[in-house]
Amino acid sequence: MAEFTIRPAAPADGGFLADMVVEAANWRAGASRPRPVVLADARHAAYVSGWQRPADRGVVAVDADDRPVGAAWYRLFGADRPSMGFVATGVPELVIGVRPMWRAQGVGRALLRALADDARTDGYARLALSVDHDNFARDLYRSEGFAVVAADAGRVTMVRRLR
Ligand SMILES: CC(C)(COP(=O)(O)OP(=O)(O)OC[C@H]1O[C@@H](n2cnc3c(N)ncnc32)[C@H](O)[C@@H]1OP(=O)(O)O)[C@@H](O)C(=O)NCCC(=O)NCCS
Repeated sequence: MAEFTIRPAAPADGGFLADMVVEAANWRAGASRPRPVVLADARHAAYVSGWQRPADRGVVAVDADDRPVGAAWYRLFGADRPSMGFVATGVPELVIGVRPMWRAQGVGRALLRALADDARTDGYARLALSVDHDNFARDLYRSEGFAVVAADAGRVTMVRRLR
């Protein structure tokens, strides 16, 4: 199995996090919406614009040469802001993506665990996320303690209690 390590996300990681937003938006086989198109959509751009704000926190997986291969992070939204997995003020929303070559090698689960530890340290009681109902990642999230709290025709909102 390929080796990776996890470090805190920094302000300079904004471009890579935007890459991961594009990966998440294009998760479905055959989907290839170009980066500018995805990031022109306010629902997607909202997760990375202005990175890194004071309450933004993330983790980045890097390979043996220090190249980023995946990231998970969270950001707070207000009820008046566009975000897909909003549940309540003060509940940060998580986004995750792993470069295609690095998937199914444990990076995603390791990122989720590291970020949950950070959220607990930051004093949050819950973490939220939004996922398409047919994305396998839903099973990954469930196995990491997330439960469905809302659903519409296409997406589900999941929440993990941290304490
Ligand atoms: C979702 C994603 C972040 C998971 O990261 P990952 O590094 O591939 O996940 P892991 O290797 O830690 O695998 C976690 C579990 O998912 C399973 N899994 C991985 N890829 C899978 C696939 N294509 N189909 C079904 N299950 C899969 C693994 O078997 C593993 O389960 P196990 O621990 O019981 O064996 C990553 O695949 C990704 O970036 N996908 C595209 C973007 C996306 O969908 N983002 C989420 C949007 S909400």
